[in-house]
Amino acid sequence: MPRSCSGSPPGPSWTPTSSRGRCPGTVVHRYTALTGRPPLPPLWSLGAQQSRWGYENAGDVRSVIHGYRAHGLPLDCVYLDIDYMEGYKVWTWDRTRYPDPAGLAREAAAQGVKLVTIIDPAVKAEPGYRVYDEALAGDFLVRNDRGSVLLGEVWPKPATFPDFTREEVRRWWGRWHQGFLEAGIAGVWNDMNEPACFSLMNGRETFDIKTAPAVHLGKVEGPTLPHDARHGHRRHLEVHNVYALGMARAAYEGMRELAPERRPFILTRAGSAGIQRYAAMWTGDNSSYWAHLELSLTMLLGLGLSGVSFAGVDVPGFLGRANGELLVRWMQVGTFYPLMRNHSGKGTPPQEPWRFGEPYLSLARECLERRYRLLPTLYTLSHEASVEGLPVMRPLVMYAPGDEEALRTDDSFLFGRDLLVAPVVRQGQRRRLVYLPEGRWVPIFNLGASEESIEGGQHVIAEAPLGSVPLWLRAGGALALTEPALHTTSANWSQLTWHVHVAERVEARLYEDAGEGYGESRLTRLVGGLAGDRFVLERSTEGALPLARGTETLCLHGLPAPREVVGAREHRMRNGVLELTVDAGWRRLEVRL
Ligand code: GLC
Repeated sequence: MPRSCSGSPPGPSWTPTSSRGRCPGTVVHRYTALTGRPPLPPLWSLGAQQSRWGYENAGDVRSVIHGYRAHGLPLDCVYLDIDYMEGYKVWTWDRTRYPDPAGLAREAAAQGVKLVTIIDPAVKAEPGYRVYDEALAGDFLVRNDRGSVLLGEVWPKPATFPDFTREEVRRWWGRWHQGFLEAGIAGVWNDMNEPACFSLMNGRETFDIKTAPAVHLGKVEGPTLPHDARHGHRRHLEVHNVYALGMARAAYEGMRELAPERRPFILTRAGSAGIQRYAAMWTGDNSSYWAHLELSLTMLLGLGLSGVSFAGVDVPGFLGRANGELLVRWMQVGTFYPLMRNHSGKGTPPQEPWRFGEPYLSLARECLERRYRLLPTLYTLSHEASVEGLPVMRPLVMYAPGDEEALRTDDSFLFGRDLLVAPVVRQGQRRRLVYLPEGRWVPIFNLGASEESIEGGQHVIAEAPLGSVPLWLRAGGALALTEPALHTTSANWSQLTWHVHVAERVEARLYEDAGEGYGESRLTRLVGGLAGDRFVLERSTEGALPLARGTETLCLHGLPAPREVVGAREHRMRNGVLELTVDAGWRRLEVRL
């Protein structure tokens, strides 16, 4: 690792330094210039998401939404897993269990909740089923080495596989989203898109994918299509890694065309370079193990460094049995995942937050409320990812190149540039060791009251009883918070509090818009610093979005009680923090010490 970096700084998320070398931030910036950057997601998709393989019918979905609301828990989205389909036939509804999808979507919307449906690639081979008939007539399906349509088994059996490497297939698939969009479905969840295939079929015989090579059905590696399966004139071996990319692209382009006023939301399990242009990603079937909670940090940091910023893992684990402590610790981390989804597998105990009783329910509520308070910052970071390619979750080393301790750290991370998150990811742990890189850091555990700032470049011990998330704000950095709500509405925040950690140079920004669509926006920049006995902060804006608030609050950390404050309506010292009330359209503040 070089001791210093150079390269064109992509923006204020960057710590500019001179001399030779490449910083991880420059590499990600450049890599995403080549492979693409994630579009800004709809705001609702950054809210809390709930899912389960096993919401068997519309009644189950209603009661989940009711459970969230009855317990005063924020929620923006519920996923429908394969249970909603008729006989695992993609683009169908089982009308006995989900008689009125549009009605259900309307009911959910009245509670501020969006519905997202799973859409798997495998198409059941069943004459008379329209998707299959069209695919066959259009010659859209993957073929086997002998030239006939490849038959396998996924959830449907027999199953065929659309060849998403071809444009005409993508356009055809894209149009299938229409009925779902018209029913009010807000997004799609592309699963099994490696593509997964459990067995191959030859006539009436079924061969387990692991024994298939022995019967000359082609070489396979793992439960997917054989190497020699045909995608037009290409073989599967050549296109395996771009299969999911093609499927996500079909969904993205289809949704853009069918609902041009909305931002597509697609969640994918598989992908390769560039998948970030079309889809958010989750990491597949994890388990309710503490080790998987800890591993989620490295996995998501790794995905972020690979250009995939909008990602998450199933909270608190897909397989196995979570307990209340694991739920709370996982939600404390999940608060900072770019995508925060509670999901569980069939046959596992239900794991909506209220299933674990107290004190876990209240602590889970605190996590969700913290998530919603953080949305102005998360949304701004998501915008930053769309413009600069830098991920929301960043390794400490991104701003401390050459610091070997930061390089080794994988049990804490930065949320954007300024917030260091050092969660507890071990069972029974009530305090932990945290490495703070060079610079000053003010602890603001749980986004609450702060204490004295401390010098970095050292390890500190953080007290973290269950319910406590150790967090530090970097000197010179800021966080923008709003008030918690039961669901999102607009990213033109009607309530806003800045937390600024005062230093010689302070720089921060906030991106706002309607939270959906492609209308007006406003980018706010705060620039200033401490010089002698004065702290000055200036605010400038770009973009035509009108303000949705009359005042805002600024909490300045790291200043003594002032002699005078110019530019604020009111000021007070509270727990060592200088709190100012300012007109939302403020331009300049001066604190005289
Ligand atoms: C796969 C997915 C999982 C989903 C299940 C049923 O295992 O990874 O999230 O619930 O299929 O669709």
